[in-house]
Amino acid sequence: MKTAGKISISHTLVQKLGIVVEPLITVRVGALMVKSRLQVHDTGRGNYMLSPELIQALHLKKSKGLKVRYQAEEKILHLGPTIGIMATYIPSPNRYEIDPRSLHAELIYLSIVSKSFPGQVYVFTPSGINWANNTCRGYVYHQFSATRGKWESALYPIPDVVYDRIHSRSAEARNSVKYAKIRLMQMPYLNYFNPHYLNKWNVHQIMAANPRLTEYLPDTRELTQDNLEEMLRKYHTLFIKPSNGSLGKGIIKVSSHRGQFNYVIYRNRRLRGQARSAAELMNKTKKFRGDRHYIVQQGLELIKYRGASFDLRIIYQKNGRGEWQISKKFCRIAPRGSSISNLSSGGRVEKSLKVLQHAFENSNLIETKNEQIRLLCKMVAGTLETDNNSTFGELGMDIGIDRNGRLYLIEVNSKPRKTTETVFSPAIVRSTFKRPLAYASYLAGFKIK
Ligand SMILES: Nc1ncnc2c1ncn2[C@@H]1O[C@H](COP(=O)(O)OP(=O)(O)O)[C@@H](O)[C@H]1O
Ligand SMILES: [Mg+2]
Repeated sequence: MKTAGKISISHTLVQKLGIVVEPLITVRVGALMVKSRLQVHDTGRGNYMLSPELIQALHLKKSKGLKVRYQAEEKILHLGPTIGIMATYIPSPNRYEIDPRSLHAELIYLSIVSKSFPGQVYVFTPSGINWANNTCRGYVYHQFSATRGKWESALYPIPDVVYDRIHSRSAEARNSVKYAKIRLMQMPYLNYFNPHYLNKWNVHQIMAANPRLTEYLPDTRELTQDNLEEMLRKYHTLFIKPSNGSLGKGIIKVSSHRGQFNYVIYRNRRLRGQARSAAELMNKTKKFRGDRHYIVQQGLELIKYRGASFDLRIIYQKNGRGEWQISKKFCRIAPRGSSISNLSSGGRVEKSLKVLQHAFENSNLIETKNEQIRLLCKMVAGTLETDNNSTFGELGMDIGIDRNGRLYLIEVNSKPRKTTETVFSPAIVRSTFKRPLAYASYLAGFKIK
């Protein structure tokens, strides 16, 4: 370990943290550790000061606004948190060139809100990591005006916590990304959250193993001709969905009509067709499905809002105490004639209270539903985490309500989009971006309100 510079810590702080006073102390920022001369001063305040050499050795960009904790067992003084947001590339700096609903807009917004945060927060890509010296090229957004700004790059320590914002399954499957992820996860003090996309079949099996969740799950099988045949006998409508799909793409909806099966394929345009048997249906959709894994699911008779299907989207996040909470809840309403409410497939957002009032009228009933929704989210997140061995800091839950008022879990997303342009107040939007950072601080061992 490198030895550099000097750190001067007040007597008060030494006592508060229980620091063992020796000539040298190990100071850690993210994955960087440096031994430094320790001096105790007597100003009576709970502060500390680093010499310029130490600041440089730790690649600190700011010497104020960092929190401090002591890892007593290892006698390490930890300054931080250092939070790295992993992406696959750094977007264009000019916001007017960017779709406000894109991931790029999210990254810029995240970087802006992170400034009011204790510690150091930066965006990085796998190629920016220097494994040889535990540093990483990080980017922070500097805003000049509402639409213009620039990314400033600097060398930081590999972070305490990685918030994975890899934006697609194909990016996630790249070797460079897989390699970086595995190596980061193996680092001794590093925490990594939202590590991967979820697979619908996988999630269904995990949820189905929890008896308390059975009543919330639509009947779901792997797509095979036999399963399809059985499901066609049991249900009037079916949803056939790619296990690794998202954005409503690749879904096939089937409805029975007088012994005939009408289907709609949701791709850029909707394609319609007919079949007389499961075998024919399999055959006719084969080319479209390709070699993707599919599930077949009971079609829910969802309640409607002004004639249109809708579902609830819940942004479920962990806070600075590591506890789950609902950050945002809204309804996504399918476009006319469509059964799919994804915003990217033409769905629109409406406040949930407005839609639920329309559906239930009675305010006690709405409160009961909301309570049930909270409980369902909690069970789903808990079940996912105990089974998965992965850490999640945010989830997007798609919940449907059927005509009998029953709740169903349609899908769980591990990388929910959090657009900066919504019907919600700016304060709510800001808090949904800040909360994962608060959770990251918690994972790093620092408490943040
Ligand atoms: N079993 C179902 N019954 C009724 N509607 C469904 C069903 N499954 C999906 N949908 C509709 O299709 C949308 C997309 O399905 P989802 O499973 O969330 O896949 P994606 O990953 O593409 O978002 C849902 O938000 C809902 O509007
Ligand atoms: Mg969905």
